Amino acid sequence: MASPTPDNIYQPKLAVVDRVVDDIAEVKTFYWHFEDPADQQAFKRFRPGQFAQVSLFGAGEFPASLPPSPTEDDFFFTVRKVGSVTGALHALQAGDPFAVRGPYGNGFPMAEYQGKNLVFVAGGIGLIPLRSCIVYALKHRDQYRKIQIYYGSKTPQELMYLTNLRQWEQSAGVEFNLTVDRGDPDWKGNVGVVGSLFKKPGVQVPVADTIAFVCGPPIMFRFVIKDLTTMGFADRNIVSTLERYMKCGVGKCGHCCIGVAYVCMDGPVFTFEQIKKLGEDI
Ligand SMILES: Cc1cc2nc3c(=O)[nH]c(=O)nc-3n(C[C@H](O)[C@H](O)[C@H](O)COP(=O)(O)OP(=O)(O)OC[C@H]3O[C@@H](n4cnc5c(N)ncnc54)[C@H](O)[C@@H]3O)c2cc1C
Ligand code: FES
Repeated sequence: MASPTPDNIYQPKLAVVDRVVDDIAEVKTFYWHFEDPADQQAFKRFRPGQFAQVSLFGAGEFPASLPPSPTEDDFFFTVRKVGSVTGALHALQAGDPFAVRGPYGNGFPMAEYQGKNLVFVAGGIGLIPLRSCIVYALKHRDQYRKIQIYYGSKTPQELMYLTNLRQWEQSAGVEFNLTVDRGDPDWKGNVGVVGSLFKKPGVQVPVADTIAFVCGPPIMFRFVIKDLTTMGFADRNIVSTLERYMKCGVGKCGHCCIGVAYVCMDGPVFTFEQIKKLGEDI
């Protein structure tokens, strides 16, 4: 008698799109659920900063961060359309099937950061992986000291997760700072790169006992790291996520390797100290 087929680590689980929300140009948020409630339950163990492999039938698979916090009920991906597979996802509508495997990667060790100040610095769609940690930290507000959010985009039209931004701005116990590189006549806020927010009157970034989360385009990352290290941040207290081409997502194919590190398994979350040791040129 044939033995039951063991779980295949590459086999994605069937999922269904619940609704699609336009976020900014070329970026949509896809709310979804697994067809099998057991898969839904199993996936709920994900941690902020982890990712999943998203499968589009006949198109392929790609890695996507998990922007929801495990403290929220909904599962969703926020994805920029850049090529064929993300394009196939963008063609989906409510009720359409696709598939997901994961969660994968290390995630941010939020429990280790208890008792510390948390400073979130995001640029553009770099807010996607950080959204999970921010929502998680605010849900466990009493476990952390100061929480500061610095977020910037090129234009006001490219600010993501507007509903969340408004909530965070009004949240007690959060210092929230927004900027755009180029304003428009309706924009009344700060104009300048994200780092310009650190120099605003009244802004005081805590350095001692602080973890700085930095996610954004490489140019923003380089400048923000320079600002933070000048302030006195140790490399080990700056954390980010690395993006690499991935195939398997589970440490088998080697596509994501940087030196000895597998970004899919050892990351995607790394401290700046680790990133420097990897010799990674961001
Ligand atoms: C851990 C991880 C998490 C990610 N999370 C998200 C997310 O939440 N939302 C999101 O929109 N995207 C995310 N990405 C990027 C996403 O995986 C790629 O955009 C996707 O694989 C592109 O597939 P495609 O077939 O549509 O495009 P392709 O045809 O493969 O590529 C189109 C263009 O995008 C570039 N590109 C493709 N993949 C990457 C990559 N990994 N890094 C930089 N450039 C790339 C290519 O060079 C090419 O110019 C993540 C990537 C990783 C590794
Ligand atoms: S993606 Fe295959 S080893 Fe990391």
